[in-house]
Amino acid sequence: MGPKKEHYSTRYPDVNLKVYTISESLRRHLYIFKTTTGVFSYRKIDLGTQVFVEHMEIPSEPSVLLDLGCGYGPIGMVLGYNSRESDIYFIDKNRRAIWCVKENIKINLPNARDRMHVRAGDYFEALKDQSVRFDGIYMNPPLREGRDEFLRVFNEVPKYLNEKGFFEFVIRKKMGAPYIQKYFQNEFPNDQIDVMVKRSGYWVFHCFHGFG
Ligand SMILES: C[S@@+](CC[C@H](N)C(=O)[O-])C[C@H]1O[C@@H](n2cnc3c(N)ncnc32)[C@H](O)[C@@H]1O
Repeated sequence: MGPKKEHYSTRYPDVNLKVYTISESLRRHLYIFKTTTGVFSYRKIDLGTQVFVEHMEIPSEPSVLLDLGCGYGPIGMVLGYNSRESDIYFIDKNRRAIWCVKENIKINLPNARDRMHVRAGDYFEALKDQSVRFDGIYMNPPLREGRDEFLRVFNEVPKYLNEKGFFEFVIRKKMGAPYIQKYFQNEFPNDQIDVMVKRSGYWVFHCFHGFG
């Protein structure tokens, strides 16, 4: 029998636990990440994530930012390192991912722990006891099981953005980036969606607040 198929989008992945340490230079800074089996792209940073972090907009002023579906946390870690006075929220439903993020904050941002907020749970449900609103929401969405779940989240995003907030995400062209762009243009005709970059088959999107 071959190895079990991994389901990284589950609360408690049903695969043997093995811890890895990987390193990656992102926006000219070297990060060390602890990862585990059962977590998205645990052997090497995902190419889509890499393209995304190199091009995402990072506010220089103090902001409240969210890494939605954070996995072991590469997006939020880059935000936390480069936006030195911002609060960074990390959300994931996968408990192993949550363990990794907490470890990775200790390793990569040891002096910024009070600005880092890690929440386990189902997307915005994880914030249900808080009235926090974000200046930027960032996402590399899981599209393996289809687009419906992402479109559900997409429609909820405006409720969690500040007035001038934005939503940025990355999608592989083959996984439906042109479809998502058309969907947005049809559903929110008065609002703006820009493709910031197309690189290595990935499209990085930037949407302005007000698209709800
Ligand atoms: C494509 S991965 C991206 C992970 C990480 N941001 C990165 O770039 O390496 C998507 C992540 O979304 C998480 N996820 C899937 N469904 C979720 C849900 N309903 N609520 C919260 N997180 C979810 C998965 O566990 C996974 O870590």
